[in-house]
Amino acid sequence: MTDEILQRIWQALDEATTQGTGFTRGFLGTLGNQGGPRIRAVILRRFERSPARIFFATHARAAKVAEIRQNPQVALTLHDNDRSVQLRIEGTASAVHDDAERQRAWKALADHSLYASTLVPGEIWPGSDESRDLATAFCRFAWTRIELERLDWLDLAVDPHQRWQFWRDADSWRGQRIVP
Ligand SMILES: Cc1cc2nc3c(=O)[nH]c(=O)nc-3n(C[C@H](O)[C@H](O)[C@H](O)COP(=O)(O)O)c2cc1C
Repeated sequence: MTDEILQRIWQALDEATTQGTGFTRGFLGTLGNQGGPRIRAVILRRFERSPARIFFATHARAAKVAEIRQNPQVALTLHDNDRSVQLRIEGTASAVHDDAERQRAWKALADHSLYASTLVPGEIWPGSDESRDLATAFCRFAWTRIELERLDWLDLAVDPHQRWQFWRDADSWRGQRIVP
């Protein structure tokens, strides 16, 4: 049963990044540079099964990028309302530096306009934004990976509700059912 649940999780993550499901938009938690937690929505763009990794795109000057550099431990919570399941992920995040990999991810992004502006996310709005520079947009693109280390799966569609936890143990995953 443990393996079946794990396979279901991998499939759900795969579908989230290839089709668009309730898990496509997650909530990423980082430790803020002032010490408190910070959580925001992100779109899951890519999933790799082995080793298990999730990738998302962001702006290189976004606060979360600096936070991850300072403290790479992150949490990511996904909720699929249609299937009544929640997946909580804990792992280690880092920026992808490999240029070929960044280029591949960049080409797969439908919309580059977010990166065209030279304004810095989170700074005071200057009144208007005339700073469209698509030629340098790629420099502002941060392709970020999360290495999955712990999973917490909660299924509210079954009676009784089921909760499972999994943790990575070297190259394999171990898991057990726990009380919801
Ligand atoms: C539905 C939705 C999806 C979002 N997806 C992303 C995303 O994939 N990457 C991203 O950087 N910001 C995304 N955002 C914006 C973030 O939630 C956040 O406002 C922004 O990145 C600034 O966060 P930070 O200051 O913590 O870095 C999304 C917002 C919404 C509402």
